[in-house]
Amino acid sequence: MCPPEHFTVEYAINPWMDTKIAVDGALALKQWASLRDTLTDLGHLVHVLDARPGLPDMVYSANGAFSVDGTVYGARFKYPQRAGEADEHRAFYAEKTDNWRFFAPEQVNEGEGDFTYLPGAYGGIVLAGYGFRTDPAAHAEAQEILGRPVISLKLVDPAFYHLDTALAVLDDRHVTYYPEAFSPASQRVLAQLFPDALLADRSDAEAFGLNLVSDGRHVILNTEATAMGHKVRAAGYLPVHVNLSELKLGGGSVKCAVAELRP
Ligand code: ARG
Repeated sequence: MCPPEHFTVEYAINPWMDTKIAVDGALALKQWASLRDTLTDLGHLVHVLDARPGLPDMVYSANGAFSVDGTVYGARFKYPQRAGEADEHRAFYAEKTDNWRFFAPEQVNEGEGDFTYLPGAYGGIVLAGYGFRTDPAAHAEAQEILGRPVISLKLVDPAFYHLDTALAVLDDRHVTYYPEAFSPASQRVLAQLFPDALLADRSDAEAFGLNLVSDGRHVILNTEATAMGHKVRAAGYLPVHVNLSELKLGGGSVKCAVAELRP
């Protein structure tokens, strides 16, 4: 995670960002700290990446890389405003992980924003989004680097511009998603792979209820996503709500703020 020390909305690269709305920086930091504390209280180890001035979106640390089996596929951001973040993540893996392999990408991709992993499905598969940020060529590149099957899914709604705004992994085998965020063909792919998926609706997705982090038991999600909280509880998980109203002004929530490390 990376603290929102320099977080602002000074450019707009997704439909949620409005440069005329001021961010409350102190509140953003407080809310971020409560997410970090929620994770540590649940027993998770959180590494903190130092925020760099001039990179206001660095708080969305999920976008900086994607790792599976201790192999890290680095990010290459679509927009120049975020390009500098990739090196910060690269330095993190070089300093903080032992014997992990880091691969700098050739293709545009925004890390865990558009890639996620299910260790218990078909021996371990990657789901990957494209349509707004990540280039589909990055899916093939990731598959060659990671040696795991990569399933390409096309995102079609600009409000849900990263995979992690439209789909989340709940445990080793189960996902939840908002079908209409995907093309009709990708909806069929998801229905075939995950007939037992927990389906979300547009209001869940708009409340950033799919932008969640799950440890397989606790599902951490934005406070606004009350209906989604009820759905995950009914499916057998324990919802834990955290208020991230300020981060929503930049078009992200819980998942965007957490890069998961998969040794
Ligand atoms: N303002 C950021 C952007 O548009 C938000 C990124 C949200 N991150 C995420 N993993 N969906 O790039």
